[in-house]
Amino acid sequence: MNDNINNRGLWRSKIGFIAAASGSAIGLGNIWRFPYLTGENGGAAFVFIYMFFVLLIGFPVMLAEVSIGRNTQRNPVGAFKKLAPKTHWKYVGILGVISGFAILSFYSVVAGYALGYIFETLFGAFRNVQTAQQTKLIFGEFASNPISSLLCLSLFLFVNGIIVYKGVEEGIERWSKTLMPILLFLLIFLVIRSLTLKGSLEGLNFYMKPDFSKVTGSTFMNALGQAFFSLSLGMGTMITYGSYLSKKDNLVTSVSYVCLFDTLIAFIAGLAIFPALFAMGLAPNEGPDLVFVVIPSIFSKIPGGTYFGTAFFILLVIAALTSTISLLEVVVAYIIEERGWSRKRATVGASIISFLLAIPSALSGGIVKFFTKLPYYGGDFLSFMSTVFGSYALSIGCLFIAVFVGWRWGVHRASQEIANGNPKFKSRVLWHFLIKFVSPIAVLLIILNLIKSSFF
Ligand code: TRP
Repeated sequence: MNDNINNRGLWRSKIGFIAAASGSAIGLGNIWRFPYLTGENGGAAFVFIYMFFVLLIGFPVMLAEVSIGRNTQRNPVGAFKKLAPKTHWKYVGILGVISGFAILSFYSVVAGYALGYIFETLFGAFRNVQTAQQTKLIFGEFASNPISSLLCLSLFLFVNGIIVYKGVEEGIERWSKTLMPILLFLLIFLVIRSLTLKGSLEGLNFYMKPDFSKVTGSTFMNALGQAFFSLSLGMGTMITYGSYLSKKDNLVTSVSYVCLFDTLIAFIAGLAIFPALFAMGLAPNEGPDLVFVVIPSIFSKIPGGTYFGTAFFILLVIAALTSTISLLEVVVAYIIEERGWSRKRATVGASIISFLLAIPSALSGGIVKFFTKLPYYGGDFLSFMSTVFGSYALSIGCLFIAVFVGWRWGVHRASQEIANGNPKFKSRVLWHFLIKFVSPIAVLLIILNLIKSSFF
């Protein structure tokens, strides 16, 4: 994508934006993070709260980000500088850039696991697997090997860097438009196999029958953070993508599609995983390893599973790439436009910093005890990064974005922007209410509640 402000490209069609924004939204967040958080947070009640947040908070905030982007035609920091010159609002953009680095680091480690799993699967590591206990051992061995973790991580970051440096994201988006439906198809295939395993019903109950008695403050925080993470909100990705939209495009329908696709994929991923998980006698609170343990064991129960499994991990890596491209792009666009670096230097520099930041996460699968079990926090370094930056920092970013659009830039100016390409904008009043009051207050309450429950 071209981030030179004087020579900005536009998406060639409305589908261009929907494809790219869905590419950013759909990724490991849907297939890796959503299932593991659902498992850790008690199942169906979490799913229910998550969807409620996507609708009530995620959707209005995405509309807000995209309207800032189309209005200012800038990177996130530049956008705040343009709409609120000489104020501290630009720090919201800067927080976004920092979150971008941090998310890119742990995300690439997991993407590296997926990359390694292409070869594990292809070379038959799961061919004779009978139980989930075995796939668990295989993953444990794989993730605790520092050499392969770091190698896969570097390879992934390298490919990601090349794509962003060459500015060929559009080519990737076009590719992924044909490949993502195949991923969806494979997921549906997995759902069918998973549901036909003996003992799957218990998993279906866990996933679909809410038990609200187990809901705590941290359930709300995790569901909210996951909604923002999965929709790529809170750090300016959607400001950047919105900046390439034409005035003729209908923002409300475009944003609706992105939210719908993203939620659908996450939901289907859960539907594939939980019935199989219970059928295989695993515990749902397996943590970040969950997907890498459950998915191979489902494939091992399908004829030709080696090949379907390999295809699955190839597609998962591509889905991850279309997300990390958007993460790196925000960081790189900021360095180029605000610091005056060349694209090459910015991409290489940002990739190296991300790699260094990723090392503790890559070692958190074993080997270095300190990273496996952090003092105070208790969990491993990767989950720590995922919680702090994937949930908390994004929630704070979204809080500020909602307050900015609701109160500083103003809902009326924002609505005028949205009305381009959508003259009637029927849900105007509802959106004003959501972005001015509901989103900021809900996010604030959830954060305060979390602080209260963790410190007092
Ligand atoms: N949404 C992506 C996923 O679900 C991850 C991602 C890409 C992201 N860009 C982002 C998350 C920006 C937060 C902000 O895999």
